[in-house]
Amino acid sequence: MCGIVGYIGYREAYPILISGLKRLEYRGYDSAGIALMNGDLSVYKKKGKVAELERFVGEQSPHASIGMGHTRWATHGEPNDVNSHPHLSDSGTFAIIHNGIIENYSVLKSKLISFGFKFRSETDTEVLAHLIEYIYKQGDLSPEEAVRMALTEVVGAYGIVVMCKDEPDKLIAARKSSPIVIGIGEGEYIIASDATPIVAYTKDVIYLNDEEMAILTRNSHTIKTIGNVIRTPLLTTIEWEMEQLEKGGYDHFMLKEIMEQPRSIGETLRGRIRPDDKAAWLGGLVDVQDQLRDAKRFVLIACGTSWHAGLVGEYLFEEFARVPVEVEYASEFRYRNPIIGPGDVVIAISQSGETADTLAAVKIAKDAGAVVLGLCNVVGSSIARETHAGVYTHAGPEIGVASTKAFTSQVTTLTLMAAFIAQLRGTDTPRTREAVLGLLAIPEKVRKILALNDQIVQIAELFKDATNFLYLGRGVNFPVALEGALKLKEISYIHAEGYPAAEMKHGPIALIDENMPVVFIAPQDETYDKIVSNVDQVVSRRGRVIAVVSEGDEVIRELAEFVIEIPHVHASLTPLLAAIPLQLLAYHIAVMRGCDVDQPRNLAKSVTVE
Ligand code: G6P
Repeated sequence: MCGIVGYIGYREAYPILISGLKRLEYRGYDSAGIALMNGDLSVYKKKGKVAELERFVGEQSPHASIGMGHTRWATHGEPNDVNSHPHLSDSGTFAIIHNGIIENYSVLKSKLISFGFKFRSETDTEVLAHLIEYIYKQGDLSPEEAVRMALTEVVGAYGIVVMCKDEPDKLIAARKSSPIVIGIGEGEYIIASDATPIVAYTKDVIYLNDEEMAILTRNSHTIKTIGNVIRTPLLTTIEWEMEQLEKGGYDHFMLKEIMEQPRSIGETLRGRIRPDDKAAWLGGLVDVQDQLRDAKRFVLIACGTSWHAGLVGEYLFEEFARVPVEVEYASEFRYRNPIIGPGDVVIAISQSGETADTLAAVKIAKDAGAVVLGLCNVVGSSIARETHAGVYTHAGPEIGVASTKAFTSQVTTLTLMAAFIAQLRGTDTPRTREAVLGLLAIPEKVRKILALNDQIVQIAELFKDATNFLYLGRGVNFPVALEGALKLKEISYIHAEGYPAAEMKHGPIALIDENMPVVFIAPQDETYDKIVSNVDQVVSRRGRVIAVVSEGDEVIRELAEFVIEIPHVHASLTPLLAAIPLQLLAYHIAVMRGCDVDQPRNLAKSVTVE
């Protein structure tokens, strides 16, 4: 939610900020703006995507070697030019960009209005700009002290960068619950919401912790707490390469990321399976082995696609490790006084590691005495750092807003975790060990499914004008039905619902007629015969069936209008294969409908507000 970038150094800031904003655009794309320090504070902002801002700035190509930029996902105030960031303080002394929400903004706003401050926008952020200026003008304070004092009055979440006309060779940044990464170059620094705008310049970074601020000049950085204690920051190296952040010849990041899955799943598995004894090995969990062995219960918390991965995890943990599992939406968990405590192991699943609700749930679970593990993709992210231990998915950067390769890497990791916990608890069996070994063949099997792309394009062509879709699956593939429906609705704007196939009889069957495409996930597992009956029930009501089936399935081929074949695999691993054709189907339908696949309307990849 909102991307922020700042630059101080010796190069032209404008192109660095614009290319940084393009990398961060997945975080929000309602409007964009930049501020440059060139004698004065020059601010340019525009409703719409970063390309609109570029057009607006035009050929002027403003010169400055210090500046900051913002791409917005609106929370307070509609997306328009005025509400865009950066925001200036009343007299124009300070400029600020902000990711997060100032929760007590209305109290502060009334106070500032009573002091004579004039507000131009409807945003919570402008309140902070004025508050900083108010404090600055009250006493003999430096700009950074004014920022620090203002932040002590703020309730809510913020990742901010501030510039002050009176100290033009300085950038001030701070964070609480919204990420800030600082890239350290030679004679330059680049600040951003994540590492993607930074990699081109340096791989040495500092991740700000909550309630820390950074004061940057061209050649120095000081990190201190909002409570005014100087901190020695931890220097980290970014692992990502530039090529991973490019489309690599594909039309969209989403397609690139779908096609990358043989490699990304391979990365998730690397070094984590011992083929000789078919055992899973997760180094990140070694320190909590005892707690995993003795846990009374596992609680998986997540949002969106990551929650669907958690549902797959529930089946796998219960089957492999024979331990009770609950899967919770983080946003529900955190607000309903959950019964959680010592003996519980909570696993927070999050691609970005920054989702506000998941992060808040992590803190609640930790405070309640649970062991909290992170299952994240982004190394060094807030959830990865807040948890007691964890496992990275290593899927590489995911830029498309609709999650694809992150999902299959999460499911792969959960399969490894389930097996690892089963080994610790002594519940592993030859069957679970076969599943572990089966994982090694998944990348090749995914490659085979990706080769069906042309067939899926043809199916997409026939169904692109549908207004509704139903996705049905059973057992471990019920969450895949949910995920297939989510992919379609979020990028094509077609209404789609996922349902357990048997549960269809209790409602959705009323919707079935010749206009209703029904996607079945029906590999040959223990529920296969039951799902064949469900296919029959849909066909006899003239529903149009597209079925994802195991190779060579002749029974469903007879019934369905279309079948998409996936290779045979251990039943517990079918979600890893079945998800792939559903991603491709959603992608092609969305492209055919002219939708903005990588940046669907109203969505953002990293939801850092509640
Ligand atoms: C947003 C994204 C989804 C993602 C969800 C959770 O809604 O658009 O793709 O699944 O957030 O994000 P996380 O980073 O926590 O996995």
